[in-house]
Amino acid sequence: MKTAVCPGSFDPITVGHLDLIERAAAIFDKVVVCVMVNGEKRSRFTLEQRLEMVRAAICQIPNAEAEMCGGLLAAFARDHGACALVKGVRSGTDFDWEYQMAQINRELCPGLDTVLLPARSGHVHISSTMVREMIRYQQNLDNCVPAGAVAVLRRILKEEV
Ligand code: PNS
Repeated sequence: MKTAVCPGSFDPITVGHLDLIERAAAIFDKVVVCVMVNGEKRSRFTLEQRLEMVRAAICQIPNAEAEMCGGLLAAFARDHGACALVKGVRSGTDFDWEYQMAQINRELCPGLDTVLLPARSGHVHISSTMVREMIRYQQNLDNCVPAGAVAVLRRILKEEV
């Protein structure tokens, strides 16, 4: 049984993330989506809110599940018996960063490889940062947030007012 971890901050999950998780689920027997803290960014949503949105988005994928983790990705992957991390890349800048992260994670957990999947061309411009900006200006999110997650996101935003 080959397990992969799809890590990310998912702040919030986008259609680009969902596409990546679906493609990972087609390659690996099991995919564990790990909602994490990115120490470089201040999150708009709590870990619990991000996890709820991810779970709502992936509920149709039978071999995918989601958890959250406030610790080290390599330790999470090892504890879940994963052989690979799967990340998406939209640009050369993404690649340079993920290449470095792949080396670090392999050092922390020998044997843990990273699979980088290129973003679909239609998703290259979509990011959580863009979604947060659209939320700020109350724009329609249907084209950039997975259908299952939009309802949860709307509820969370409503609870904030
Ligand atoms: O979606 P993102 O923001 O690109 O995801 C980045 C993330 C959360 C995967 C990365 O920041 C991460 O791995 N955080 C957990 C802490 C960790 O293991 N850091 C790398 C080794 S020091």
